[in-house]
Amino acid sequence: MAQSASTRPTAWWLATLEKRAARMKEERLDLAEPITFSDASERSAAINFFNAAFRAEESGLRQAHELADEVGRWDPELARVLELYGNEEGWHRELLESFLSSIGGEVRPMGRVTRSFYAVYARAKRMETIVLTNLMFETIGATTYRLALGRVEHPAARQMLTILTRDESFHVPLNVHFLSRILERRPKSSRWRLKLVYQLLFVSLLGLPFASRPKAQAFDKITRRELGRAYAEQLARLFTHEPSLGLKPPRALLALLGLRDEDLREPPLAATGAEAAEAAAVRERVEVRAL
Ligand SMILES: [Fe+2]
Ligand SMILES: [Fe+2]
Repeated sequence: MAQSASTRPTAWWLATLEKRAARMKEERLDLAEPITFSDASERSAAINFFNAAFRAEESGLRQAHELADEVGRWDPELARVLELYGNEEGWHRELLESFLSSIGGEVRPMGRVTRSFYAVYARAKRMETIVLTNLMFETIGATTYRLALGRVEHPAARQMLTILTRDESFHVPLNVHFLSRILERRPKSSRWRLKLVYQLLFVSLLGLPFASRPKAQAFDKITRRELGRAYAEQLARLFTHEPSLGLKPPRALLALLGLRDEDLREPPLAATGAEAAEAAAVRERVEVRAL
């Protein structure tokens, strides 16, 4: 197994994020060629898809900066890493805003399911709960974008999806690092709470395709079954390959979805190994694989 993300020191993540920040604004969306959708329902589904992405960025940005304030009291270096991480989400949010307007859409008020999901999340107080939620959100986000990239053909949409897949994949091992650092400060006896949250989150996230498919499928062409299975597989691989977190994927649920032990042997696509993280320092060198 490649070196785990959780064994990289904070200084390494800081240096990598600083390198990424220096080049962030150089990358621009090429929106010169307008996207022609096959019909109004595909366009409307695209607007829904990127609205969901926008809300995820908005929430990620806010949580990261709030955590940075808190973490700054005991680890200023880790706080700076959180701040730079939040800035990357802020940059994604800006890109999504301009992308949405280029397809004649806008940021819409959240739907009922999305609103209640974020309302619960915003109430989370414990740092490990927030970071675990982030880690799982990043994993399913990267999975959705990667699957969409395998199906969507519009060049501008593909560029947007490539940026998101690449960066959210990098955010997965980064959040493993955050979680490891936070758990080091907690007594082992308090882990039961996190394990419970983890099981609940795992099940709830697998329910998300029920809410998102009617809204976005006409654009991303991903079926409910494919998306649910891909979420389960990527989440399960992630935690199987990061045993130090002590969070085992729910086997019964995986078996129900037809996922066996050998399906989990491969590393997650948002590879947490050191090599993938190393490559992410130079964004343009990252090869983004579609699913
Ligand atoms: Fe993002
Ligand atoms: Fe992210």
